[in-house]
Amino acid sequence: MLIAGNWKMFKGPHEARVFASRIRQLPELASRVDVVVCPPAVSLAAAVQGLGARSKVRVYAQNIHWELEGAFTGEISAPMVLDVGCTGTLVGHSERRQLFGETDETVRMRAETALEQGLSVIACVGETEAEREAGEAEAVLRRQVSALPRHPALVIAYEPVWAIGTGRTATPDTAQEAHAFIKSLHPTRVLYGGSVNPDNAAVLLEQPDVDGALVGGASLEAVSFEAICLAGAATVA
Ligand code: PGA
Repeated sequence: MLIAGNWKMFKGPHEARVFASRIRQLPELASRVDVVVCPPAVSLAAAVQGLGARSKVRVYAQNIHWELEGAFTGEISAPMVLDVGCTGTLVGHSERRQLFGETDETVRMRAETALEQGLSVIACVGETEAEREAGEAEAVLRRQVSALPRHPALVIAYEPVWAIGTGRTATPDTAQEAHAFIKSLHPTRVLYGGSVNPDNAAVLLEQPDVDGALVGGASLEAVSFEAICLAGAATVA
């Protein structure tokens, strides 16, 4: 069970440090849950410091570039995030795909470099509402998943775009069906993402092929993030 908080463009270094120090012992409370936070780049070091050396909470970047260094204004590299103490990264979040021109090919390159450099990867996939209504959800997932490298340190997050930040969660059955389909293409852990909150976490995480959650909005408050991690722990108990 893996619960990851995607902070998106929230929490500067001060807030990140305070939040991290509050949740540093969460894995001891939520046993058998791998707890991950994904702060913005500028707050990665502060989150690592707030957690301290003994915490089992892991800090992931929200994205990394496929080159190790170079003339790529605005990007950060795998060696840089390793240097501040990150152990992994997201790639291919739908906001990156929709707002910043990420393609299956750039997502693949970012994932490959991250894995080569020793970072764990959470690779996000998911169909839009229009694609689902047109009956294309499986074709989109097949295309996105097929582009990803196979590697033991890569997990996939299924995040239907229509469920992200909308309060509209996929039903447990829809999530289960999509997760089983993704696993038939690429055997790995599959997290669910899209409006996960303390009220719906248990029923989603109980699905047999839902191996965790990627949480946006509800990961920004310690109380709700803790509650989701505890719900995850209850399903593996
Ligand atoms: P949300 O975001 O939980 O706010 O819907 C999830 C995500 O984008 O990872």
